[in-house]
Amino acid sequence: MNVSQLAQVTSDYEQEVAQFAADVLTGLSSESKYLSAKYFYDDTGSELFRAISQHQDYYLTRTEYEILDRHSRQLPALLGEDEIDIIELGAGDGHKSELILNSFLAAGVKVNFYAIDISDKAMDMLAETIKEKTNLTVRGLVGDYFDGLRFVKERSSKRQLVLFLGSNIGNFDHVESKAFLRRLWSSLNADDYLLIGFDLKKDINELVSAYSDSSNYTRDLNLNLLARINRELGGDFDLSAFQHYAVYNPVLGAMESYLLALREQKVYIEALQQAFHFDAFEPLHLEYSFKFLPTEIDSLCKQTGYKLIDNFSDSGERFIDSLWQVSLRKP
Ligand code: AVJ
Repeated sequence: MNVSQLAQVTSDYEQEVAQFAADVLTGLSSESKYLSAKYFYDDTGSELFRAISQHQDYYLTRTEYEILDRHSRQLPALLGEDEIDIIELGAGDGHKSELILNSFLAAGVKVNFYAIDISDKAMDMLAETIKEKTNLTVRGLVGDYFDGLRFVKERSSKRQLVLFLGSNIGNFDHVESKAFLRRLWSSLNADDYLLIGFDLKKDINELVSAYSDSSNYTRDLNLNLLARINRELGGDFDLSAFQHYAVYNPVLGAMESYLLALREQKVYIEALQQAFHFDAFEPLHLEYSFKFLPTEIDSLCKQTGYKLIDNFSDSGERFIDSLWQVSLRKP
């Protein structure tokens, strides 16, 4: 696979670390301490997420795989193109992408596949799964999603299908997800497509065990962010002094992941030249994973400038992959 680094901004390691430091400073200085889950995915984090996605307790990945296995063969006829650019945002290990690519290839569609991910590691995992073949070209882009989309638009005028799977949208709150979808709308042409994965609201026990798996991979994914601060910013977090706690907030409609300080402590971060105080039992918020009702998916689609073409679900109705088309009307 041909892999390129995107845009100076995201490939400049020093700038990246400076942004990370600034975000850590803001989060740890806040009255209710928080860090952003977007920093989970360094190489270690990407491998931990792959372990989570294969774990029995984490139903999301295999459920979406089931959906694509059942329904992706309908996509070529719905789109009706004989050549298409498929652009995946945050491709992961590529097993789900492969189902979609194969459906188009089997229908005789020529496919140019672009995978965009911020992690090199994710790109390596993807390259193991997806190989070029007749009628399929593959290109990996390491960097920011929107830089990647611009890169493709500058080189191709083909109809595009953007994949944003896995309920990655769930990490955004409602304001952020609308902003993201509108920005995506602006980067696409009228009649381009988006296939977007939403995890549905469901039994709370199922949700909670997905985010507190019995092998503690989810705990380790959260703790890895503290380890990353130690590694990259010269922090001295004692990982054994924090407990992972995942809880469903029914008012927000989101799973929330916390690390709770097990005792009073100070953490010094060299890059910030500053110490941060934690009280015993003080929470540090790391992640939201929003869950959706089918009606919420419909209104999000309309509010952000798309037309809903079809919803694909699994036999247990746990998850929806929703196919949207960019409509001309401005959101
Ligand atoms: C990759 C964002 C979809 O929120 O379910 C898995 C990340 N966090 N376990 C999710 C995650 C904890 C995951 N997404």
